Amino acid sequence: MNREDIKILIVDDDDDDAFLIGDLIREGLTNPSPTLDRAKSQQEAILQLEATPYGICICDYRLGEGDGIRLLNNLRSKDITTPIIVLTGQGDQEIAVEAMKSGATDYLTKGKLTSESLAKSIRHAIQLHQEAERRKHTEEMLKKSHQELVVAHKELQTSLNKLKTAKNQILRSEKLAGIGRLAAGVCHEILNPLNIISGYSQTLQMERRDDPALQEDLGSITEEIHRIEKIISGLLKFSRKRDVDLKHAEINNELESVLSIVEGEMNSEGINVVRKFSPDLPTLLMDTDRMRQVFLNIINNAKYAMSGGGQLTVHTQVVDPVNSSSFATETGSLPEESKKVLKISFTDTGTGIKKEHLEQIFDPFFTTKPEDKGTGLGLSVCYSIIEKHGGILEAESDGKNGTAFVIELPINQNSANEESMPPPNEP
Ligand SMILES: Nc1ncnc2c1ncn2[C@@H]1O[C@H](COP(=O)(O)OP(=O)(O)O)[C@@H](O)[C@H]1O
Ligand SMILES: [Mg+2]
Repeated sequence: MNREDIKILIVDDDDDDAFLIGDLIREGLTNPSPTLDRAKSQQEAILQLEATPYGICICDYRLGEGDGIRLLNNLRSKDITTPIIVLTGQGDQEIAVEAMKSGATDYLTKGKLTSESLAKSIRHAIQLHQEAERRKHTEEMLKKSHQELVVAHKELQTSLNKLKTAKNQILRSEKLAGIGRLAAGVCHEILNPLNIISGYSQTLQMERRDDPALQEDLGSITEEIHRIEKIISGLLKFSRKRDVDLKHAEINNELESVLSIVEGEMNSEGINVVRKFSPDLPTLLMDTDRMRQVFLNIINNAKYAMSGGGQLTVHTQVVDPVNSSSFATETGSLPEESKKVLKISFTDTGTGIKKEHLEQIFDPFFTTKPEDKGTGLGLSVCYSIIEKHGGILEAESDGKNGTAFVIELPINQNSANEESMPPPNEP
């Protein structure tokens, strides 16, 4: 069948009528040229329309076993969209309206049929049908474009978020490096006069043993000096660049060695410790003392946040990097598996961290604890140690239901990260 042909199905139970309609169509319609089929009943019509893609169906309203409206409804419920022209009797105006409502494309009065009116109606129906198809196609395309746009938008959002995280990490590490340099300088400046004060106060303590009031004051001075020294030693730890002593070690063992020290006390404070250690983790190059210090700081913070009791879950596993932007992309040329990271998470059920504090907790001296309970140096030290190991440290909290500290350490450390670290045992 070429493009100009049209298959038409005539549905009429009366042989003479069907014959006449066929003749009129052939007479009036030359372009497109019609191929005619005939169905004698509703049932037959449905079967034929289901089996063959007819261009038009011309249907007598008065079909033996049921009216044309029922046929129309039947076809539409089966999703058959063939345009249908209904032939009504004289004066069947209401039926015509009903047929149009039920989805007929047009109606013609049977007694007044001419070849022209039939051809005109057929052409009109074809045109309408084509327009509807085009509209449907356009709508589908639009819907598809819209869906693609939604997906693209989501991808963009994900990339933006990743970029934002990476930017924050860079800003934070630049800020910390700057503070580190400043802190190192200031610490050394403070240590000199502090030593002098300490020396004088010791001399006075020895010389004026007979003055208890003075001895008491000097005791307080010494205490405060120790406090300053503690702060300074913390700051120096944070700022010292080349203080990692690398050796191969297993994270689970290091974690266990810290947990075994603190677990008893935590239990007695009503804190339950849950270990979810993945077996068979790869060994990593690390400074075990520093790494244990990180674990201890994080665990102590969690303990403090759960002063009324709670649960600390420590989870180790190998995963694809989620937070890490820096080392994952730097190693772009490495095989997929070497991009994996060792993820250590500490999840507590404590107070949580307020959103406005989350950005600050890694800053030196940021603390929400009373003066005698915190210096605000713990997490900044942790951050710089993890950074020196080529990893990242992040905190997650909704501000009320506890906090998770997540460390990600690169597994393939032999190339990128050793460069940024001194060789083992270098002073
Ligand atoms: N697990 C935690 N739950 C709730 N808040 C935490 C937790 N860990 C850290 N913080 C918050 O981060 C701040 C900074 O911690 P840190 O640097 O260790 O200093 P410090 O413990 O001396 O306050 C804490 O004062 C506290 O507000
Ligand atoms: Mg702390």
